[in-house]
Amino acid sequence: MRSLIAACLIVAAPALAQTEPGQALFLQGEGASAVLFGGLRMSGQQIACAGCHGADARGDAEGATVFPPIDWASLRRGDRAGGPYDRAAFAAALRDGLAPDGRRLVDAMPRYEITDDAIDGLVRFLQGIDADQRRGVGPRSIHISARAGGDALRGLSLAVDRFNRDGGAFGRSLTMGPRETSLLDEEDLGRILDLRLERAGIKPVLRAELYPSPARADTHPRTLRAYFHGLVLGQALIECGRDVTRHCIEDHARKLRLSMFLDLP
Ligand code: HEC
Repeated sequence: MRSLIAACLIVAAPALAQTEPGQALFLQGEGASAVLFGGLRMSGQQIACAGCHGADARGDAEGATVFPPIDWASLRRGDRAGGPYDRAAFAAALRDGLAPDGRRLVDAMPRYEITDDAIDGLVRFLQGIDADQRRGVGPRSIHISARAGGDALRGLSLAVDRFNRDGGAFGRSLTMGPRETSLLDEEDLGRILDLRLERAGIKPVLRAELYPSPARADTHPRTLRAYFHGLVLGQALIECGRDVTRHCIEDHARKLRLSMFLDLP
């Protein structure tokens, strides 16, 4: 159990300009106290939701303990085991440790002494996380960006053209836009994919049929790399289906078979 508690102390708080009460409670455990493991009273950082469920509310697992995702969209899902949450059910989980179907949540989930206002603040915060996860996703388009500009921008644009020419995904096409309004940046994908390549010790060589133009030699390595990132993004968008979030794309970027895109030895 000690490692569980230790995990609660490590909170990667995203840099946000202003701290709302819901956010302070979620990230730092401010504004409530709790009882942990059926008796141990705790407050402050130790009971920050983020310490167990992640700063992005996406959930986590440690040994046999599973910390479920608790962003609002996940809690609201009709197919969620234990039933979908609403505000009242959320309050009951926090105060009484009960799921919507009446199941008792395991003791590793603290029981909170928490005001109605604090519950409302948490719900607002969790809803805000959802909005952020879908930033740039419209009914017909998805905005992405390439911070570095130049060769990377060109590579990503080539992948975007290809994706749109092939019909996009679920009625949506890709468009390039400023980072502030984008779902993600070419560099976000680059970090995940470049690490995968590094770990696998692979020198990336695109599959011949995926080259953006027959004149291979004309293309700068950075352009090709960004193009590869863009191809993975396109495939991830198809896998994520209608319900596109940044997490979903990143998950698929971690999982998709690289041989779909690269000539592997
Ligand atoms: C010490 C770790 C820990 C902390 C801190 C914590 N949780 Fe949990 N939480 C859990 C675990 C473990 C579960 C899974 C319980 C189960 O399924 O029986 C859980 C379950 C939940 C559930 C039920 C989800 C479901 O699938 O039914 C909700 C809602 C929830 N937590 C919200 C919060 C909120 C909000 C906070 C902060 C105010 C918080 N939790 C803080 C460990 C924690």
